[in-house]
Amino acid sequence: MTVITICQRKGGVGKSTATLNLSCVLAEAGYKVLIIDLDDQQNTTKSISKIVETDKTIEDLLLKEDLVLNEVSVKTEWNNVYILPASGNLSGVVKHLDSELGGHLILKEKLSSDLFDFVLIDTSPSLNILVINALCASKYMLIPLSSKYFSMQGLSQTLSSFKKVTDRLNPELKLLGIAVVNHDKRNVLANEVLEQIRSKFKDEIFNTVIGINIKIEEAQVKKQSILTYAPLDRGCEQYRELGKEILKRVII
Ligand SMILES: Nc1ncnc2c1ncn2[C@@H]1O[C@H](COP(=O)(O)OP(=O)(O)OP(=O)(O)O)[C@@H](O)[C@H]1O
Ligand SMILES: [Mg+2]
Repeated sequence: MTVITICQRKGGVGKSTATLNLSCVLAEAGYKVLIIDLDDQQNTTKSISKIVETDKTIEDLLLKEDLVLNEVSVKTEWNNVYILPASGNLSGVVKHLDSELGGHLILKEKLSSDLFDFVLIDTSPSLNILVINALCASKYMLIPLSSKYFSMQGLSQTLSSFKKVTDRLNPELKLLGIAVVNHDKRNVLANEVLEQIRSKFKDEIFNTVIGINIKIEEAQVKKQSILTYAPLDRGCEQYRELGKEILKRVII
């Protein structure tokens, strides 16, 4: 299983949107994909309309020792896409993991099976023990970015967290890349920021840039992926291109 954490310390840049759409793109390419929603805002969970009734969430998986991955992952309406839903109150889980010896490694233990080709983990902007769990369980970290000026600050915080995790906790973790997922090309300042990011992170930045696109936002509201909501739209094409670049970079 190739586990990828979608991580960015700045809020609202498009983490959840990218997690969902990239999962659907990978599934379309024939891979079996699990989305783990590790954010108690539950945005990704709520962006999927027909989660088959389940009373189990990520909270159960992390707290109940004998519970295994296939008992909590739920099939979505999209072929090959599964979700492990978030729970609305993860603060109890955070407390429990904080006090447990090796509490940052529970998710890694639970992901030791080979049930899926890819696992994409959506995280919250705050760096709590849930995000640490995700990064310890992952082979890759993907950083989504908007080309807004303040996102550079979020990027340096995120890279510094990445370094601490690779130095201290998971030396296997690799940076899969930095993806601009919310770019307004009519905005001069945003274009300047994009150029700065491109020159500073030549190897890390993906060539594909996802533009600001109302269809992408609408798809999320309508509980769909861009693939089903607007399959002919430019945004869909861009997410497919980004998916192709990701497949070229990962070692499965
Ligand atoms: N390319 C895009 N074009 C237009 N809107 C977008 C695009 N990508 C994401 N959005 C919108 O931006 C908003 C924030 O996106 P999203 O919820 O994915 O961010 P996030 O990083 O997960 O936020 P949080 O940090 O709160 O979890 C949403 O309304 C989403 O629909
Ligand atoms: Mg989110």
